Amino acid sequence: MGIATSNLTLAQEKLRVAAPYLIEQTWADYTPQQHAIWAELVSRRMPQLQEHACREYLEGFKQIGLQENQLPDLKAVSALLQPRTGWQSTPVSGFLPADAFFEMLAARMFPTTTWLRSRDSMEYTPEPDIFHDVFGHVPMHAHPVFADFLESYGKICARLTDPQDLERMGRLFWFTVEFGLIRQDGAIKVYGSGLISSHGECTRVLAGGCEVKDFNLDAVLNQEFQTSEMQAVLYAVESFDQIYEATKQAEQRLG
Ligand SMILES: [Fe+2]
Repeated sequence: MGIATSNLTLAQEKLRVAAPYLIEQTWADYTPQQHAIWAELVSRRMPQLQEHACREYLEGFKQIGLQENQLPDLKAVSALLQPRTGWQSTPVSGFLPADAFFEMLAARMFPTTTWLRSRDSMEYTPEPDIFHDVFGHVPMHAHPVFADFLESYGKICARLTDPQDLERMGRLFWFTVEFGLIRQDGAIKVYGSGLISSHGECTRVLAGGCEVKDFNLDAVLNQEFQTSEMQAVLYAVESFDQIYEATKQAEQRLG
C-alpha cells in the first residue's frame, strides 16, 4: 500500500489536467480466468510477431519483463522501463481527453487502461484495454529514439490549439504509433500497437491486403482514416529517427 500510494501521489503531483484520471492498478484483483485470457491473447500473437514485428518491439518486450502467462503489474513494468528511457506505464481510469493525454506523453507517462477484454471480444475492442495498451504499446517505449519521439509528440500537441492542427497530428499518431510499419532486413515489419495487438488486421496487412507507402510527412498529415475500419493505406518508415525528425518538422509547419 505504501509504495502504490506514493506512486499515485507522485504522478498526481506532476500532472495537472490528467491528475483526475489516474488510478491504482490492483493487480491482486485479476482472476485466474483473466490471466488465462491474457495468456491466450499473447500465445495467439507471438508466433506471427516473432517473425514480423520489428526487432525493437521484441527486445522491448523482454526488457520490460512482460510475462506470457500472466497480466502485467504496471509498477513492475515501470520499474524496468523507467531506468532505460524515463517512461512509465501509468494506470488511468479509461479514455482521456486530448489535453490530458498529451500532458501525460509529455511527462513520459503512458496512460494505461487496467481492464481486460472478455472472452467474447478476443479479436477487437472498440476502446483500448490493457492488452492493447501494454502488449501493443509499451515495449516500444524501451527504445530510446521511439521514447524521445513520443515525448516530443506529446509536448508539441500540448501546445497546439487549432483543431485542424490537432487533427493532422492525430493522423501522424495513427500512422506511426498505432499502425506504423518499418522496413528492416529487407522486409516490412510491424511496430504500431493496432497491428501488434490485432491478429486479424496484422495478418491482412502482411498478406498485402492494404497499400503500403513510403512514409512521407505531408502525405500522413493529409491522410484521413476511420478508426473502426480496416486500414486501406499504411506507411513504412526506414528508421525510428525518421518519425522523430518528422515530428519536429511537423511542429514547424503547424501552429
Ligand atoms: Fe493505442
